[in-house]
Amino acid sequence: MGLRRVLQQGDKALLRPSREVTDFDARLHQLLDDLKETNDVNEGMGLAAPQVGVLRRVFVVTDISGAEDISIEFINPEILELSEEREEAAEGCLSVPNIWAMVERPKYVKVKALDRHGVPFELDITDNYLSRAVQHEIDHLNGNLFTQQAGRYLSEREIDAVMIERDRELRKRRKAAKASQGARRARSW
Ligand code: NI
Repeated sequence: MGLRRVLQQGDKALLRPSREVTDFDARLHQLLDDLKETNDVNEGMGLAAPQVGVLRRVFVVTDISGAEDISIEFINPEILELSEEREEAAEGCLSVPNIWAMVERPKYVKVKALDRHGVPFELDITDNYLSRAVQHEIDHLNGNLFTQQAGRYLSEREIDAVMIERDRELRKRRKAAKASQGARRARSW
């Protein structure tokens, strides 16, 4: 299929809980590939199946903590632990364009899920971007949008500032990750 249309706030499908995946077949793999492609084209941090009108417990997120972006696929995810420590940060959503708000969430999360072949895995997520993205996408699977738990909404100027800060943070991380990768390479010949 390829690119899929992202449903926008107001569409009732976004408010319905999604069902568990039972078949790890070519159709699921196509859905996952399409979610990744649609997320990348829209420069999203993550995209859940209900956002493209498929009410299944599936989402992809982009891990931006390393030298290169890595897409991670989650099927039938379950939260195992949420940190007591919480953090408030700006959040947006591809289904709610041009609106950003402060949302308070647990800072870290431990999740278990299945990969596209039905193989279970667990992730202890300490990266704050990834932790927030995973919690946000799991909310989508339960029919919840971030606007339901939003604190203060950001002005246009504040949204610009958030984007600039995020870009700066990403560049810094990428540089650090590349430097450590270079060091590993230099030592391993
Ligand atoms: Ni979203």
